[in-house]
Amino acid sequence: MLVLGIESSCDEMAAALVRDGIEILSSVVRGQVDVHTPYGGVVPELASRDHVRVVSAVVEEAFRTAAVGLEEVDGVAVTAGPGLVGSLLVGLSFGKSLAYRLGVPVVGVHHLAGHLASAELADPDLSAPYIGLVASGAHTSLYRVEEQGAPALLGTSRDDAVGEAFDKVAVLLGLPYPGGPAVSQAATRGRDDAIAFPRPMLNRDGLDFSYSGLKTAVALEVERRGALGEEDVADVAASFEAAAIGVLVARARKAIRAEGLGEVAVVGGVAANRRLRADMARAGRDDGFRVTFPPAELCTDNAAMIASAGTRLLVGGERHGLELNSFSRVPIEAAPWAPTPE
Ligand code: KG4
Ligand code: ZN
Repeated sequence: MLVLGIESSCDEMAAALVRDGIEILSSVVRGQVDVHTPYGGVVPELASRDHVRVVSAVVEEAFRTAAVGLEEVDGVAVTAGPGLVGSLLVGLSFGKSLAYRLGVPVVGVHHLAGHLASAELADPDLSAPYIGLVASGAHTSLYRVEEQGAPALLGTSRDDAVGEAFDKVAVLLGLPYPGGPAVSQAATRGRDDAIAFPRPMLNRDGLDFSYSGLKTAVALEVERRGALGEEDVADVAASFEAAAIGVLVARARKAIRAEGLGEVAVVGGVAANRRLRADMARAGRDDGFRVTFPPAELCTDNAAMIASAGTRLLVGGERHGLELNSFSRVPIEAAPWAPTPE
């Protein structure tokens, strides 16, 4: 089964062709860094306007790179939420129209189900049940992913997402947008223990996260230091990264123990972070659980993961009509289009 995936929930327009849910024939991602850089963050109205301009070209490029014709597609999978509604609508409208024209079914995919699918797409040995940690610009959530049914939410951020904290710290440190990679790069030159930043929620019960206190602590530290030299930027970045990533690793360890499972899949943009990859792998070795990360290009937003999650829905007989709408906020289990992970 050949499925076209379309993803446009935030500031990336992406299209991919995936065969049988696992073989990526093409995966095109067009970002908008130039559009949002002057503002230090994503401006929703500008994001959707840019999506309108590029959607046809991005989908065309996906077909050209895969060297397949429109008529070979068996179905269309498109992100229906959560995300910026204006951005989502562009991909959704395009996907529905194309499916209608081609006479093939269309399914709406939950963005986080897509991120979780990226782990199974990249690692065929991963098998449910396992712990899925989604660490992105908008979400920090731990799931118990089952063989059947929607993933069960174990814990989530009560305020900012971890990627959002990286992006905000980048602004405080005068580093370029997008902040995650820039902070991570600066951190390589700094000392992790230069500042003892708080590791919120770690002494609390449960598996929730909180990142706004850490962000405020960084803001106060930056204010205290006044004009920042290169060494200040590096030390603050390294100490922040150690705290932010330390919380993710500690929570994943706790989830593994609490659920009695043996595997963690880390997905979402922050899963591209080198420190998270190294520290989580070490925790796995120490505690005896397996850790899997998709390659960096499948961690950040892409359409291959959407095509993969959508393929499962299509194979399961799921069909969504042209009335399918976009949702800015929607829990994974409430979506009528929650996937059944294999
Ligand atoms: O999954 P994603 O592409 O979009 C959302 O669904 O949110 O994640 C984007 C987030 C941004 O906050 C970005 O700063 C962060 O992922 N990110 C990173 C790294 N690469 C991307 N954060 C830390 N270290 C990185 N290397
Ligand atoms: Zn995402």
